[in-house]
Amino acid sequence: MPTKKLIVGNWKMNGLLADSQKRASDLAQAVQKQQNPAFDMVLCPPATMIGAVAKCLEKSPVQWGGQDCHAKDSGAFTGDISAPMLKNLGCTYVIIGHSERRQYHKETSTIVLEKAKAAHAAGLVAIICIGETDAERSAGKASQIVTEQLEGSVPEGTTALNTVIAYEPVWAIGTGKTASADDILHMHALIHKAAPDFKILYGGSVKGSNAKDILPLAHVDGVLVGGASLKADEFMEIAIAS
Ligand code: PGA
Repeated sequence: MPTKKLIVGNWKMNGLLADSQKRASDLAQAVQKQQNPAFDMVLCPPATMIGAVAKCLEKSPVQWGGQDCHAKDSGAFTGDISAPMLKNLGCTYVIIGHSERRQYHKETSTIVLEKAKAAHAAGLVAIICIGETDAERSAGKASQIVTEQLEGSVPEGTTALNTVIAYEPVWAIGTGKTASADDILHMHALIHKAAPDFKILYGGSVKGSNAKDILPLAHVDGVLVGGASLKADEFMEIAIAS
């Protein structure tokens, strides 16, 4: 039996309580109606919304996760959230090293690696994000950057049970520009060769309209979706394309 596709919604810094609960409840209901779905769904709301969203999802097959965690379990780190805190809210996943964290919070692969270790120690599955910028791609360095990020961000001893890799070309995130099938095939093959056991997600302007072309590609084990995960109908359309 083929393994199920992993469909992850990254809500980023969007939404307030009522619309988050509505979207989570709508998705919980829609997924429950599916007979033997070919996908597993995970929602990653803003940290303040996780508790409320968890209540909407707890009786459904939909799982939930965080968008980031600190490398330490506790301490004087104002504004930060630890992996055990996410676990305590019933999270099963946490996104680590998203390009927006790497870019706006200056997270290096070394920091990402420490965060992934913390996620593993707390019993969370780390979704470790890697991907090249437009400038790096134009300079012919896309494969090199992705290889370096993979080597630098994934802790030793990581297994397919506690880690998923997300390939997200930075130039395709939130821009409406999706990587071509050839770009995705090339990069996913490269990642698969270096890390053969891991699920590999594609992320970057995945929509209802293009999911059916992306999800069947070789070594695409699921998708990490930003903008289009904010609409329950469209996110469901993506999941059903599995
Ligand atoms: P996007 O974001 O789907 O809005 O491009 C993807 C992501 O950042 O995970």
